[in-house]
Amino acid sequence: MAYAINFNVMNPGRERSPVAPLADVAIGLTGVTKRYQRGKGLLTAVSEVTLSVPPGQVIGLLGPNGAGKTTTIKMICGLVLPTAGTITLNGYDVARQRAGAVRQIGAVLEGSRNVYWPLSAWQNLMYFGRLKGLRAVAIRPRAERLLTELGLWERRHESVGSFSRGMQQKVAIAAALITDPPVLLLDEPTIGLDVAAARTVKDWIARLAADEGKTVLLTTHQLGVAQELASRIAVIRDGKIIADLPTGELLSRYAEDRFEIRTRKIPNGLRPGVLPAGGRIEHGAEATRILLPGAGQADLYRVLDGLRAAGSQLISVSQARPGLEDIFLRLIRDGEEGPGAVRATAAERVA
Ligand SMILES: Nc1ncnc2c1ncn2[C@@H]1O[C@H](COP(=O)(O)OP(=O)(O)OP(=O)(O)O)[C@@H](O)[C@H]1O
Ligand SMILES: [Mg+2]
Repeated sequence: MAYAINFNVMNPGRERSPVAPLADVAIGLTGVTKRYQRGKGLLTAVSEVTLSVPPGQVIGLLGPNGAGKTTTIKMICGLVLPTAGTITLNGYDVARQRAGAVRQIGAVLEGSRNVYWPLSAWQNLMYFGRLKGLRAVAIRPRAERLLTELGLWERRHESVGSFSRGMQQKVAIAAALITDPPVLLLDEPTIGLDVAAARTVKDWIARLAADEGKTVLLTTHQLGVAQELASRIAVIRDGKIIADLPTGELLSRYAEDRFEIRTRKIPNGLRPGVLPAGGRIEHGAEATRILLPGAGQADLYRVLDGLRAAGSQLISVSQARPGLEDIFLRLIRDGEEGPGAVRATAAERVA
């Protein structure tokens, strides 16, 4: 729940001489590890994660269930204490300058209890705005704009508990934005939203980053969302970052050529050695498909020559490039490249 995040900003004056915000790192994680007690042993949910997100960047944190995404976000929010490592938000150390750090963020956490259900949408926004130290006069126009743009203005006085899941998610997003924080942490922001609501939320995230320079860290299982919004993608598996690259580079680095040949029957069969490693033949009722993943032009011509020699009649030859989903599944399955191989250098990482 988001309440704990907000309670911690009640005493911002207690921290003396806060460090001046760093301009070049909005979200900084250094060697962050979280171990939970599990039975008599320990479970490492997040393992030595180091990540540096510059201001204005939208980064997608992807990974299978239980990879450590939510734990990472909760540690950035200060809701879960890391076992080791440090986290900074615009230069404020989350552990030592908590109030300053929490003021930098708006968060929508996993699940639907980010806002108070008995309160109306309007009351929630007023409440969270006041909790973060804003005066009512400052909150009202912003709440009005947020609720109007998210299509909730007409229903602003109804209790959030009576809203649909998508509407509750929109209120949670509005509550995270009410104080206009520079950094947004969004755990599965479009989960459970219908097509139109997901479009609204995605457009909002894109606009907040492009027009208002917000830094956004989002997790999602909807790879299309990550591909559309994030300029950088980090993949986490078993608590470790196994890939961290600009989205375009991730796509192109793994964009091996894949050819697909469709033919009528192959009367004489293909000679041994014609098919390159990884190639396979699928016989269908209408056509035979020959799939050549990772094949170069020379491999393709060898197979085509082989098909001609075998007296086969071609239907089509096409080239396909893997999408983010293929790449993601491969990384999750193999991960043999190791963290070093798929990490961009600091220079490459600039948004
Ligand atoms: N409070 C907790 N106590 C003990 N173990 C926990 C706790 N919270 C999370 N874990 C464990 O830490 C690991 C990472 O969980 P986490 O919720 O961070 O995964 P996730 O990547 O967000 O997964 P999902 O895609 O399912 O949301 C899991 O093995 C989980 O069981
Ligand atoms: Mg999660």
